[in-house]
Amino acid sequence: MPAVSFAPSPAQTFEIRPLQGLVGAEIIGLDLTRALSDEDFARVHRAHLDHHVVVFRDQRITPQQQIEFSRRFGVLQIHVLKQFLLAGHPEILIVSNIVENGQPVGLGDAGKYWHSDLSYKELPSLGSMLHAQELPSEGGDTLFADMHRAYDTLPAHLRSAIEGRSAVHSYTARYSEGKNAASWRPTLTAEQLAQVVTVTHPVVRTHPENGRKALFVSEGFTTHIVDLPADESRDLLAQLYAHSVQPDNVYRHQWQPHDMVFWDNRSLIHLAAGTPEHLRRKLFRTTIQGDAPF
Ligand code: OGA
Ligand code: MN
Repeated sequence: MPAVSFAPSPAQTFEIRPLQGLVGAEIIGLDLTRALSDEDFARVHRAHLDHHVVVFRDQRITPQQQIEFSRRFGVLQIHVLKQFLLAGHPEILIVSNIVENGQPVGLGDAGKYWHSDLSYKELPSLGSMLHAQELPSEGGDTLFADMHRAYDTLPAHLRSAIEGRSAVHSYTARYSEGKNAASWRPTLTAEQLAQVVTVTHPVVRTHPENGRKALFVSEGFTTHIVDLPADESRDLLAQLYAHSVQPDNVYRHQWQPHDMVFWDNRSLIHLAAGTPEHLRRKLFRTTIQGDAPF
């Protein structure tokens, strides 16, 4: 019998190219079907912290390989909508607009409003990975807004209005809103509702790894700011949202076949720009648990 080899994975040759705008980098030439060496992992980790969203081009990975790569960054979170988890791989949430035999194959309206994944949990997500399975010939882009820059560029009056404040986040904030909501969003059972009780997080959080402050509110999951009259809270949030998603603060990802996109939910909010109804789109998502915002 050949001796079992425990040789460390060799380093790969790959490039990290910043994208045109303020956030984002492409990673070219890295093969995620192979276990990453510690050195390669450290480069990817650094790029993720520096650029907030990294795009690994041309990845022919299996669901299991996506799960294993994701696990190097932390514990994986299993989505509350069990009906949209990949069979045999509950760590993967299917994000798709495809309906087969009258049944949606995945979460069809994921990301309809700007949000940070799982901000409605005590331990929101550190980051998420989406791997393209099937892409439409047009549309289907994903937008990312830089919440560090949003904080850094806040006008003084908004900065003082949110100083020391907290906000409530709820999974069900906009759960049933919008077209098709009923078909994409099944009625939650009592057990599911128990998993998504509301939480309170600081409006401005400090990123635990890069030390920078970031705005941490979004229209998808934030219901209100604590200790403010309802109309003031609504007005303040509307101003924060409008400021965060100004075009010069946003990266628009146009998907290419076999892209795997890994973003930092502590630094960015994101939005599904929408896919024409007659075109098919399917992606696999893994979600890595982060720590409690402070
Ligand atoms: C998600 C999400 C956006 C998209 O999967 O978390 O928000 O463009 N997706 O599919
Ligand atoms: Mn999302």
